[in-house]
Amino acid sequence: MSEDLTLSIIKPNAVRNKKIGKIISIFEESNLKIKKAKLMTLNKSKAETFYKEHANKPFFDELVKFMTSGPIMVLVLEGTNAVEENRRLMGATNPAEAKNGTIRSLYADSMTENAVHGSDSQKSAHSEIAFFFNE
Ligand code: CMP
Repeated sequence: MSEDLTLSIIKPNAVRNKKIGKIISIFEESNLKIKKAKLMTLNKSKAETFYKEHANKPFFDELVKFMTSGPIMVLVLEGTNAVEENRRLMGATNPAEAKNGTIRSLYADSMTENAVHGSDSQKSAHSEIAFFFNE
């Protein structure tokens, strides 16, 4: 058990659907503290770089198109086991499998437009936070 950091992205569908406040409320009601936040729009090159590990997947082009389709909010969250806690709050990637009450069960529109992204390990949290905030 240790205090650590994770990166969250509120994706374009959730921003378009005016769910920023609802999603931030879920974070604030959890044990995670919001350390940083910014609203921005990804360009194609930045989205492709962020998701480069998925470059060979059949859904890659659709994912990049979606992630560049409007503003996103990126947040740094801090707390005990922040990576795992954020993933628990988000629910499964596929909203059909996300548990009731999770962010994706409430606000995802599809597998691609699944409302939020969260780092999947402390190592990726470290590089994803640097990707968005060390510029
Ligand atoms: P995210 O947590 O941001 O990480 C990769 C993203 O790719 C994922 O959320 C979804 O938005 C998307 N994704 C993953 N699997 C699929 C899939 N099978 N079909 C479409 N999009 C997917």
